[in-house]
Amino acid sequence: MKKLLNVRNVVVGNEEIKILREISFEVNEKEIVSIVGESGCGKSMTLKTIIKLLPKNLEILSGEIYFDGIEIVKYDAMEKIRGKEIGMIFQEPSSYLNPLFTIGNQVEEAIKEKIEKKEKKERVIKILKEMGLSSNVYYQYPHQLSGGMQQRAMIAMSLINNPKLLLADEPTTALDLTTAFGIIDLLKNLVTKYNLSIIFVTHDISLAKYISDKILVMYAGIIVEKGPSNLVYTNPLHPYTQKLINCLPEKYKKGERIKTIEGQVPSLKDLPEGCPFSPRCEYKKKICENYIPGEIKIEERNVRCFKYGNFMES
Ligand SMILES: Nc1ncnc2c1ncn2[C@@H]1O[C@H](COP(=O)(O)OP(=O)(O)OP(=O)(O)O)[C@@H](O)[C@H]1O
Ligand code: SF4
Ligand SMILES: [Mg+2]
Repeated sequence: MKKLLNVRNVVVGNEEIKILREISFEVNEKEIVSIVGESGCGKSMTLKTIIKLLPKNLEILSGEIYFDGIEIVKYDAMEKIRGKEIGMIFQEPSSYLNPLFTIGNQVEEAIKEKIEKKEKKERVIKILKEMGLSSNVYYQYPHQLSGGMQQRAMIAMSLINNPKLLLADEPTTALDLTTAFGIIDLLKNLVTKYNLSIIFVTHDISLAKYISDKILVMYAGIIVEKGPSNLVYTNPLHPYTQKLINCLPEKYKKGERIKTIEGQVPSLKDLPEGCPFSPRCEYKKKICENYIPGEIKIEERNVRCFKYGNFMES
């Protein structure tokens, strides 16, 4: 499988705070990779780093990002890549669609190629249909569409220039379950139809398992576990991944009280010195409080935890 994106040891932050700490992962062609973790762990920042749209006070402090042969961190023509080679969709499509213009008009505006108006219209109607919308949507305004239809229109807009990579930041969180699964199945089908790779951000590890080939589990700006979705889900190695899975409602019988992960995600300004998960971890030993675990490869998995690699005995 050909590598499309290769993120190597990326650190994002400033002098006071580190938002992403030494993150590394790869996305192959036609692969869906999910990023999972609680609120504030750095999922959206990872996507913003890839397209270099970070808030003004934050920067990429070190590391490399290779996308389709280009090293992005040093690259200074991101406008050639954003919206063209890399598309993006978000949680609230209504915030990104202009209420004053028709869907047809907005999707046409997104076309980067210089083509005739007639050809633009044909292209837009074709993609709207491929997204499961009727051609009538071309003439409609965002408020005339349901949340699911708006998201389909956003996906059409993000794919109109045939990107190689789609960044999807919780695109189904605001939708009801049935509508959400419609969007998830649509995204899955796009992979082969459009030769697309997708990075899918979600809080829900069971949804991540359903949609993706690989899962990255993030905690406090660190990727604590990554590997094939099935393995991560059925045999989680990191204590944080184990807790995320144990808290899923489907793991409980009717009437049984659902456990939550005790404690809170630490503030990035006030992180523990060692493993960031140590205040919430039942396996914690002395070494965990003093050092941040490095990445260990276990078969197809990478995990950052001292439980693995005989560190606990030292
Ligand atoms: N401009 C900024 N300066 C400093 N810290 C920031 C800034 N923007 C965001 N952060 C912090 O970066 C961390 C990661 O944020 P991010 O938006 O990536 O979280 P997330 O995993 O996407 O969470 P959610 O699930 O709530 O969307 C958070 O702790 C957040 O408070
Ligand atoms: S390194 Fe230690 S504290 Fe951190 S998750 Fe592993 S066992 Fe728990
Ligand atoms: Mg987010």
